[in-house]
Amino acid sequence: MQLTINGLQVFTEGDKSNRPIIFVHGFPYDHTMWDKQIDHLKDNYYCVTYDIRGLGKSAVGNGQYTMESYVDDLFKIIAELELTKPALCGLSMGGYISFRAVERSQETFGSLIICDTRAEADSNEGKLVRASKIKQINEEGIEAFVESFVPTCFAVDTIENRSELFQSVLNKCKTNDPIGVKGALIAMLSRTDTTNYLSKIKIPTLIIVGENDVLTPPAVMKTLHENIPNSEFVIISKAGHMTPIEEPEAVNEVMKEFLT
Ligand code: MLT
Repeated sequence: MQLTINGLQVFTEGDKSNRPIIFVHGFPYDHTMWDKQIDHLKDNYYCVTYDIRGLGKSAVGNGQYTMESYVDDLFKIIAELELTKPALCGLSMGGYISFRAVERSQETFGSLIICDTRAEADSNEGKLVRASKIKQINEEGIEAFVESFVPTCFAVDTIENRSELFQSVLNKCKTNDPIGVKGALIAMLSRTDTTNYLSKIKIPTLIIVGENDVLTPPAVMKTLHENIPNSEFVIISKAGHMTPIEEPEAVNEVMKEFLT
C-alpha cells in the first residue's frame, strides 16, 4: 500500500498484525533499495519503507533539512502507522538517521539493523567534500554528480559484471530533485556525532557491511560492533557499500535469522 504522511511517500507490505520493520534508505537513493528485503520478509513482518524528504517521490519543500528533521519525519511515520516497537533498519544516511533516532528514543524500537554506516560526524575534510559536491551540482548538474558519486557506492565487481542492475540504480538517482539532494548533503554535514551513545544501546543490534565497502569499510563497522554491547557483526562477501542491492540473498538470510 502507498500512502502520503506529512508529504512523505510511505510504502507498506504485509499484514499489519505482524511485527513491524521500518527501513530507511541511503543517499541519494530511494525506498526501492529495500525491495529485495521486503519481498523476502513481507510474509512474516509488516514492512514499512519511505522516501526520505527531498529524495525519490517525497516532497522536496524548501530543501532545508537537518538530521533532526529527518528523525522527526521517521517518528511521525511510526506514530501515524501506530507501529509498536518496530525493528529499525537503516543504511548509510539511513544509518545516521537510525542512530540519532535511537539516541533520541531507544524505547521506541524493538531492535536495530545498521548497514554500511558510521557513528562519527563528518570531519572537516568530510565537510569540505560535501561542499564540493554541492558546488558540482550547482555548476555541472545532478547527472554529473550522480555519475561521479554512485560508482563509489558499488563494488567494482558489481559495476563490471552486473551493469544492468548498477545502471538502473544510477539512472534512478539522476531523477532526484537537485534541491533535495543538496539539502541532504547539508543535513549530513551538520549532523551530530553519536559515537558516545553507542555503549548505551541496549536493544539487539545487527551490523552489516559489504566486504568491499570503501565508504564505510569493515574496519569502521567493526568499531560499532565493539562499542554496541548487544550486537552481532556480519561481513557480506563481494558487496560494496550497497549490500542490500548487491548481495540481497545473503543480506536477507542474515536479517531473517537476526529477526527471528
Ligand atoms: C549513503 O550511502 O547514504 C551515503 O554514502 C552517506 C554519506 O555520503 O555519508
